[in-house]
Amino acid sequence: MRVVESVLDLRAILDNYNTNKVIGFVPTMGALHNGHCSLIRAAKQKCDVVVTSIFVNPTQFNDKTDLEKYPRTLNEDLAKLEKEGCDVVFVPSVEEIYPDNSSLSLDLEGLDKVMEGEFRPGHFDGVVEVVNRLFNIVKPNFAFFGEKDFQQLSIIRFMVKKLNHDIQIIGCPILREEDGLAMSSRNTLLTEEHRSVSPVIFKALTNAKNNIGKFAVEDIKNELVAQIEDNGLLKVEYVDIVNSATLKSLSNWIDEPMNICVAVFAGKVRLIDNLKLNY
Ligand code: PAF
Repeated sequence: MRVVESVLDLRAILDNYNTNKVIGFVPTMGALHNGHCSLIRAAKQKCDVVVTSIFVNPTQFNDKTDLEKYPRTLNEDLAKLEKEGCDVVFVPSVEEIYPDNSSLSLDLEGLDKVMEGEFRPGHFDGVVEVVNRLFNIVKPNFAFFGEKDFQQLSIIRFMVKKLNHDIQIIGCPILREEDGLAMSSRNTLLTEEHRSVSPVIFKALTNAKNNIGKFAVEDIKNELVAQIEDNGLLKVEYVDIVNSATLKSLSNWIDEPMNICVAVFAGKVRLIDNLKLNY
């Protein structure tokens, strides 16, 4: 496995591969867990060469302390990537990714104004900025993203279409701990107490899914909040039931794919999760 820090070194390696090799790309911010490993495995199945980036992107953090306390575990990450058979790891500095102040300023047509976008203003501008830069550097055929970041995945698909990137975006299912908690790099920041109550998030989402159509949308959302907050330790920031394609918030059930999405504070740690709903 090759580990490189500069765009030049990365390009030198990738340009050396035969042009008919299929390049798979897994962008990450490190602190890798099994969810990331499942992305690498999916990439390995589909592609000849797998590139992973580890870059904690400052432009997508609207909260400075969140950026500072974001877990950084480079040595463990590299060991995991090696074990999964990743071919090339790109670990750039901030200057390498942002040598200039230019910005893409892509109009995300409202996809960035709901849910995560409402509570983390500017977050998706930062995500789109960095993913676009990484796509231009790596030039992959396929790129792999987890469905846990459901809104991010929709926005990246939108960006790829808008900017005519010739890249196929593959969404990979959420991986969960045995008790149902969605795997996330932020889980390592949870206190024991918060960790022990956090499986209720998945339980409440599952209950909501089982009750779809039986109760009004608003009642399902209220019940989910009550279930999650019942322990007195978790606080729901938002819950929304949206049209999976448009991300439009729904007040009535529709006969199209829907997702229920939630963000929850466990102390200072913010967790997100979602489930697909089929009416
Ligand atoms: O999902 C993430 O880890 C990040 O948002 C991404 C896609 C690597 C961009 O920094």
